[in-house]
Amino acid sequence: MSREIVSLAREDGIAVVTIRNPPVNVISAAVRAGLRHALDELEGMAGIRAVVLTAEGGTFCSGADIGEFSGPPKEAEYRDLFRRLEQLRIPLVAALHGTVLGGGLEMALACHYRIAAAGARLGLPELTLGIIPGAGGTQRMPRLIGVEKTLELLFSGRPVDAAQALALGFVDRVAEGPLPEAALAYARALLAAGAGPRRTCDRAVDPATATPEIIERLKAGATSQFPHRSAPGSAIEAVTAAAALPFEEGLLLEERIANRSKETIEAKALIHVFFAERETRKVPGLAPGPGLALRRAGIVGAGTMGGGIAVCFANAGVPVTLLDVSEEAVARGQKSIADTYASMVRRGRITEEEKDRRLGLIRGSTAYEALGDADVIVEAVFENMELKQRVFARLDEVARPGAMLATNTSTLDIDRIAAATRRPADVIGLHFFSPAHVMPLLEVVRAEKTSLATVGAAMDLAKLLRKTPVLAKVCYGFIGNRMMEGYAREAQRMVLEGATPRQVDSALESFGMAMGILAVFDMAGIDVGVNVHRSNADQYPPDPTYYQADIALHSAGRLGQKNGKGYYRYLPGDRTRHDDPEALAILREQAARLAVPQKPHTGEEIVERCLYPLLNEGLRILEEGVALRAGDIDVVWTSGYGFPRYRGGPMFYADTIGLKALHEGMLKYRAQLGPMHWEPAPLLARLAGEGRTLADWSRERLAQDPPQPLREMS
Ligand code: NAI
Repeated sequence: MSREIVSLAREDGIAVVTIRNPPVNVISAAVRAGLRHALDELEGMAGIRAVVLTAEGGTFCSGADIGEFSGPPKEAEYRDLFRRLEQLRIPLVAALHGTVLGGGLEMALACHYRIAAAGARLGLPELTLGIIPGAGGTQRMPRLIGVEKTLELLFSGRPVDAAQALALGFVDRVAEGPLPEAALAYARALLAAGAGPRRTCDRAVDPATATPEIIERLKAGATSQFPHRSAPGSAIEAVTAAAALPFEEGLLLEERIANRSKETIEAKALIHVFFAERETRKVPGLAPGPGLALRRAGIVGAGTMGGGIAVCFANAGVPVTLLDVSEEAVARGQKSIADTYASMVRRGRITEEEKDRRLGLIRGSTAYEALGDADVIVEAVFENMELKQRVFARLDEVARPGAMLATNTSTLDIDRIAAATRRPADVIGLHFFSPAHVMPLLEVVRAEKTSLATVGAAMDLAKLLRKTPVLAKVCYGFIGNRMMEGYAREAQRMVLEGATPRQVDSALESFGMAMGILAVFDMAGIDVGVNVHRSNADQYPPDPTYYQADIALHSAGRLGQKNGKGYYRYLPGDRTRHDDPEALAILREQAARLAVPQKPHTGEEIVERCLYPLLNEGLRILEEGVALRAGDIDVVWTSGYGFPRYRGGPMFYADTIGLKALHEGMLKYRAQLGPMHWEPAPLLARLAGEGRTLADWSRERLAQDPPQPLREMS
């Protein structure tokens, strides 16, 4: 087995070691064994003057095996293996292509020379998983490019291209022409020039890259860029040690720090989200399909969402027909799409030609018949049931048989929308987030009669559009907005109780939310929220203070950023929030009218009162089977709602604080604020009583007792 996964061949006097572990040549235990075996064989081979290390397929090694992180530490094994590579007595050339990441790049650094294909991308993304490189990267990279640049590379987490790697100094050559030949030619040239091994470990770190000023600046940068995170500090500790310690001692220190970082909640949370994002596509009962044959998409409604969704399709190379009620509405939509692309060109994201190509894929229309050749149609008209039902009845007449009919509704009952057609099995919710061409999340909402095939096609479509799909069942708000309801409700209630909008938002942002919820309302438009709540007033709980901060500001003509005043005040063309005494006065007046008792709030109370209802609702959603797994909910919130990834998403966070503590917290606020909003979810009460975690429960349930929608599917 190990012989197949790593092969050894010879080309004249040059040995070629090839790693073969598709799809991305992860450095698994078998690859490591194979490399050790190849090194043993090399020692016995006569007449070999140089070695080329390469990998087959689309990429060199893209990293260590993340699945091994939870097992016993592997650092010592990596250290020994890479030391053997580095200590070879003949020149060792790494031939790099594809995405050379993490452990893959660390292995390349242990080689004597590095040549990269022009399209290669190289990086150390460990911090995005809350860990640090543990296979020598923190000690070898600074010996090649200095402490400062190494830390910049680590902090960015993003790979650089081959030319940048060459300029930085950790790649020696960019291949002209095919890599295998170029790597062999490079090895021959080295031999011809009389070059021997050039070991990274023998080099010294340039002290000018690690002055106290530089270190101070990097530390300050890490604190502001990564609040609440410990891995960046660990990276600084390990990388600066390269300048102070002998190489072998540095490696041992790196190992200690790497193992410490793996044990943090931050690393566990980030790794949890990493895996959860790969799980969401897996729907029990759904076998991988033949893939989606998508020749054309149709979109009804050329407004904010319709335009953004059209851009998603065009970016994926799919021709789109964009329909609206009038020529003017279509033209408005197309203008805003053109603006989106123009800004992408300005920011250097795409070329002028690419912009023209993508714009050329989008054709406008006002005639439903133009949607007859679409394989997928996404409806994004105003949020109004009667209107959507009319649109779907019309789509039923014109769409080709088998076309997917999707609605982008945020709040309406998709079963009722589907009932307007004679083909409810083809109707599904595709809930994009705004801006649709930027946000990675896509809630895929399965209505009662949606077929399994349609669900599968929606998952394939998400992949094509490079979205992270999460399957939900129909309910008010699906997963994300349903959990948002209590979170936002408490924020609004607290500003009526006398907290300032800044106090509430700052507490939430200190917790790690990308943006405080009141600032989010200002950005999205206070009128948007008020309209949604007005049209769903029949579902309100009987609480006279419910969402009444929004109502008060809206009645006073404060719509948020769009007219420069909402919870905050804004200067024209500037999104900076300014405290506004006028907003405070309106909120105080509303509180007096509703007789809301005034009280002081600590940051802790603000975070608890916003988050506990959110977590509690997540437990209800899980028990009802609206979401398949706890991890799916975490993906919704980390990729769509700005919940900090390093806290793992709300369900992971619930396990972090402990279900018992969450349950007690709900009871504490129930005693203070009444039972209407503070009843613990039955699942929370049960698991807290049994002392179990959600992670266990979610795993067991998927294994033993598939939730309702799964049975329907099979
Ligand atoms: P919008 O008001 O920007 O655009 C709606 C468009 O639909 C307008 O261009 C209008 O002319 C067109 N339209 C109305 N009746 C039509 C008809 N009979 N045939 C064809 N076109 C028609 O609205 P927006 O914000 O794009 O929202 C669209 C849908 O997306 C709504 O269901 C909304 O709830 C949902 N949504 C909105 C999000 C947001 O952040 N704006 C996020 C996620 C979903």
